[in-house]
Amino acid sequence: MQRDQEPPCGIHPLLAERFSPYAFDPSTVLDDHSLGLLLEAARWAPSAGNSQPWGFFTSRPGEPDHERVVRHLAPSSARWATDAALLVVTLARRHVGDTRLLYSEFADYDLGQAIAHMTVQAQAMGLAAHQFRAFDMEGLTKELGPNPGWVIISMIALGKAAEEPPERRDRRSVADLLSAPWSPSE
Ligand SMILES: Cc1cc2nc3c(=O)[nH]c(=O)nc-3n(C[C@H](O)[C@H](O)[C@H](O)COP(=O)(O)O)c2cc1C
Repeated sequence: MQRDQEPPCGIHPLLAERFSPYAFDPSTVLDDHSLGLLLEAARWAPSAGNSQPWGFFTSRPGEPDHERVVRHLAPSSARWATDAALLVVTLARRHVGDTRLLYSEFADYDLGQAIAHMTVQAQAMGLAAHQFRAFDMEGLTKELGPNPGWVIISMIALGKAAEEPPERRDRRSVADLLSAPWSPSE
């Protein structure tokens, strides 16, 4: 597969400079105002029919809820996520109550978009975000007990990056984005 290894240029610096760090500065403190701004950014994301099928559980080091989340991290994410100034558990409302009826067929899609907003807002605030799935989904779900219809999807560690972006960042080429879904013409 052809990959474009050129550093991103021409796109907005908030997008070009974003990366998911594997090291956070443990001394960074995220105040309530900053936390509120991150949640506001997610809140204003578009969604199918304005269904806004997203929810979050936030915790910062030192808060009792932080330990409730940290104990469910996989060893691979615990190495760096525990140093982050904020951990966000993301949830999508997939179903109506405890029925099989879809709340919105776009629930996961919409949540992803809200997270993208949060990530760019974080970047604008000089913070970095690392989204991850490396945690005990069953254990965390039992721990937090979301309402029927709600499912935990992912987690995000946010804080000040304590490392530079990697030199090499793989991305599929734009040409591949446009051609991959279709077979080559005869
Ligand atoms: C839904 C999702 C799940 C992810 N899960 C993990 C994970 O479990 N562990 C990890 O180290 N990174 C995880 N990542 C981060 C990706 O590996 C990372 O975004 C990708 O390699 C591109 O790197 P970049 O964000 O620095 O551009 C995840 C990202 C997303 C969006």
